[in-house]
Amino acid sequence: VSVLVLHGPNLNLLGRREPGIYGSVTLEAINRLLEEEAQKLEAEISAHQSNHEGVLVDAIHDAQGKHQGILINAGAYTHTSVAIRDAIAAVNIPTVEVHLSNIYRREEFRHHSFIAPIAIGQISGFGADSYRLGLHALVNHLRQSNA
Ligand code: DQA
Repeated sequence: VSVLVLHGPNLNLLGRREPGIYGSVTLEAINRLLEEEAQKLEAEISAHQSNHEGVLVDAIHDAQGKHQGILINAGAYTHTSVAIRDAIAAVNIPTVEVHLSNIYRREEFRHHSFIAPIAIGQISGFGADSYRLGLHALVNHLRQSNA
């Protein structure tokens, strides 16, 4: 199976950005961790980061026919973007939502996710491990539903 990994706005700054909340791990390190996990799972990943909503929407559209699953940390767009949610719903590709921080113990405006209602599930609060756990769960889900 092939999984599209999407990182949303400001995640390019990981490692330097609010380390008290997001830790010191960089996006490159997260992508390496995901590569390792993908190898263990005998899956493939393709990872992309963008600060632009429309670029993320285009990437979701382009996943059709190429990727069987999407792992997404939409960053702040999680809480604002009907367009990203609609794109995921339109392509109908099983999607897992991840967050480094536990969005439910932070500001009220982070408690709502537009993506959650159309995702298979969400993993929030485990730092870089959220991505690893999310990839694992997504690949398991894809294999079970194709069995
Ligand atoms: C985040 C949580 C969001 O609320 C925030 O806007 C981010 C990162 C996380 O991974 O914890 O950019 O998605």
